Amino acid sequence: MSNTITVGLLGLGTVGGGVIHILKEHQKEISHKIGCEVEIKSVLVHDMKKVRDVGIDPAHMTDQYEDVTRDPDIDVVVEVMGGIEHTFSILMDAINHQKHIVTANKDLVAQYGAELFQASQENQCDFYYEASVAGGIPIIRSIMDGLSSDRITKMMGIVNGTTNYILTKMSKEGSDFDHVLKEAQELGFAEADPTSDVDGLDAARKMTILSILGFSMPLNLEDVSVKGIRGLSISDIRYAEQLGYCLKLIGIADNNEHGVSVSVEPTLLPKDHPLTSVNDEYNAVYVHGEAVGETMFYGPGAGQLPTATAIVSDLIAVIKNVRLGTTGAGYVNPQFGKKLKPKQASLTKKYLRLHVHDQPGMLMEMTQIFAEYDISFDQIIQLPTDTPEERELMMITHQVDEERFGKALEDLNKLETVRSVDSVFRVEGGQS
Ligand code: NAP
Ligand code: HSE
Repeated sequence: MSNTITVGLLGLGTVGGGVIHILKEHQKEISHKIGCEVEIKSVLVHDMKKVRDVGIDPAHMTDQYEDVTRDPDIDVVVEVMGGIEHTFSILMDAINHQKHIVTANKDLVAQYGAELFQASQENQCDFYYEASVAGGIPIIRSIMDGLSSDRITKMMGIVNGTTNYILTKMSKEGSDFDHVLKEAQELGFAEADPTSDVDGLDAARKMTILSILGFSMPLNLEDVSVKGIRGLSISDIRYAEQLGYCLKLIGIADNNEHGVSVSVEPTLLPKDHPLTSVNDEYNAVYVHGEAVGETMFYGPGAGQLPTATAIVSDLIAVIKNVRLGTTGAGYVNPQFGKKLKPKQASLTKKYLRLHVHDQPGMLMEMTQIFAEYDISFDQIIQLPTDTPEERELMMITHQVDEERFGKALEDLNKLETVRSVDSVFRVEGGQS
């Protein structure tokens, strides 16, 4: 058996640079664990003229993907370039040339995971994607290995570093949304197109991946209800605090006798909830199993070295399989057919913020609508605004199903006294 494993790298940006750094800095420990050397032979980049300070000989760089995917010397392809359609065809080309794959690309795995796993299995290749969810937290390995004996019933957490960074800075420093987003981009947390972070799509892709694994069901991104933090105002953060809550972008995947529901949305958590202390780019995921009960995984969810740690650990796993002759054996088809929870079976508390015309009977008119749909309130705050005849109302309901709440909201919007419904968020925890 060869004493060197040869790797091809697709992409040399934030994460790719981190992979080179860890392979170099931890070289001795890695070689000890796998019993051989790791050599980076080729690196695919977009712009060959870009000056790079990562210690890669320019002779190893290429802008032709076939130099990586079809090189008979390359054993493992590490994909850290991002993108979906073009990247999918590049990885299929690599797999069809018997390359093992390690990727950080949740966009790709959430969309084409099933096709990529199947092709890998057919070619007896490994396909690892730990870095695609929650950066440096080994959450995929924990679900697939550590908790594989249990039945997972719920997963809930903060799985996007960029939005958590933005919400933390807005809440703690009163920073402006656009300014903090720029900071997150400069720190290398945000996606090339940060709208996928801000609009919740990145978190939804990660929740799709976790739900497929955790519930062993063939779920798609389209099955996830998604709402991001765009337009979320500092007022909502401050009012949430006044009501005893903290506002976070939370992914929740739940599986019970009614079926599965998966969502990503801004959510009010009681101030003593453990997820409220997860700040900046950090992520945390709760996993509830029938037998184990509640477990929580916490760590950096984005950034160069945390993400590269997950990738190099996957690379080590692949190399161990290569040396043991067990590659391509890790994939298990979903056990269950898709069963989604109907709207009437999804119960949550809701927070609303609205502007109303202040006139006698206004509050009664509104509460009558809610009473019609059997919705009652936990807390209500009314505050004056700069416009004398207008008031701002913040309300938290008791538990209500999505269908009834949607209808009540429709009727509310038709009232003449209601100027605007500005925000509607989920509320977790506290009394039902
Ligand atoms: P990045 O800094 O934008 O780097 C992307 C790299 O890929 C660049 O080197 C770029 O080449 C190259 N590239 C992009 N498209 C290409 C194409 N069509 N052909 C050839 N080369 C191409 O991105 P990143 O932050 O490292 O993220 C990479 C992947 O990791 C993404 O899938 C992302 O979702 C995932 N991820 C990132 C983080 C994070 O914290 N950043 C965490 C977890 C997962 P040039 O250098 O020539 O432009
Ligand atoms: N843009 C992603 C985030 C990178 O902020 O969480 C890690 O997947």
